[in-house]
Amino acid sequence: MTISVQGVVSRGKGEPVQIAEVLVPEPGPGEALVRVQACGVCHTDLHYKMGGIGDDYPYLLGHEAAGVVEAVGDNVTDVAPGDFVILNWRAVCGQCRACKRGRPWYCFATHNATQKMTLADGTPLSPALGIGAFAEKTLVAAGQCTKVNPAIAPATAGLLGCGVMAGIGAAINTGGVTRGDTVAVIGCGGVGDAAILGARLAGAKTIIAVDIDDRKLEWAKEFGATHTINSRSSDAVEGIRDLTGGFGADVVVEAIGRPETYKQAFFARDLAGVVVLVGVPTPDMQLDLPLLEVFGRGGALKSSWYGDCLPSRDFPMLVDLHLDGRLPLEKFVSETIGLGDVEAAFTKMEHGDVLRSVVIF
Ligand code: APR
Ligand code: ZN
Ligand code: ZN
Repeated sequence: MTISVQGVVSRGKGEPVQIAEVLVPEPGPGEALVRVQACGVCHTDLHYKMGGIGDDYPYLLGHEAAGVVEAVGDNVTDVAPGDFVILNWRAVCGQCRACKRGRPWYCFATHNATQKMTLADGTPLSPALGIGAFAEKTLVAAGQCTKVNPAIAPATAGLLGCGVMAGIGAAINTGGVTRGDTVAVIGCGGVGDAAILGARLAGAKTIIAVDIDDRKLEWAKEFGATHTINSRSSDAVEGIRDLTGGFGADVVVEAIGRPETYKQAFFARDLAGVVVLVGVPTPDMQLDLPLLEVFGRGGALKSSWYGDCLPSRDFPMLVDLHLDGRLPLEKFVSETIGLGDVEAAFTKMEHGDVLRSVVIF
């Protein structure tokens, strides 16, 4: 039976988002119906609203979520009604060329629900990142539900579904940060702070936070930054080199997605070091680097898609570390809000007033 819930919908480019009635079908084969308990407000939701991702309006926004499985369709064996899950946007297929090469965290054919959620008049909705969790209930592919220990607060857990995982994974999975490394993180929003936290968890010796906002640098220290640089008032590259014996950092994470900060990351890296780009650029951006330096500095220039995470491996592990007191994920939750407050949360996000606003149901 189709059910009716309230959801946050973006109807057209740049228009304020609205709460609308959303019709959610009963789960079919391979699908799961999830009662959402918490969903964070991410930049990607704002990009959808602003037309930066596509033109498939209306969008059902929200994708950093945790909740309880309410019903499953046929052929679903991994999750069952009552399971507490974090929703992911990497339900790996097991069949594509990445999966077949044994690298499922790159899966090129991830699963989403087959059936469409709709508006009351039957207009199909495009769920953000195949999730659409600013809604009391949402329909996803069962593989998008990752079961974790239910002792974690839903608001905290949901953030692992996107931005926090992207940051932690950028440091640990993509950057390969390990004990004794020197690490710099350029851009200390939610993603950058999560990279700092990941670097600390991995045992980095020096963690340098770079931002243009002193407030952000103060927060970065709480996540484990050992040094901070305000790159508005001083040179980021020189500062990072000074703090690393004149050499540069072993791993530099760029968590903004801009050519000028990518260049800083490139030049602030030690020989044979790694640059990780986790910030998402826009289509107009170009990068210009001396090719001889690209060769001469060696190492690796990598992009991190969703922290190169494998949800089934990483989410339960990170939740358990959190519950063990070793990963203070709750610090990313700046405020909890209602479903009607998403538009206001976008404004706060644009002003840099929050790491994450989280809708609680
Ligand atoms: N130099 C240094 N820091 C900067 C600069 C700059 N030129 N421009 C912006 N920043 C800082 C901001 O002050 C802010 O603290 O970068 C941070 C960006 O953080 P948020 O806007 O909160 O974004 P976040 O959610 O962390 O995402 C960062 O990762 O996943 C992607 O789409 C996401 O591209 C975005 C990036
Ligand atoms: Zn695959
Ligand atoms: Zn996101």
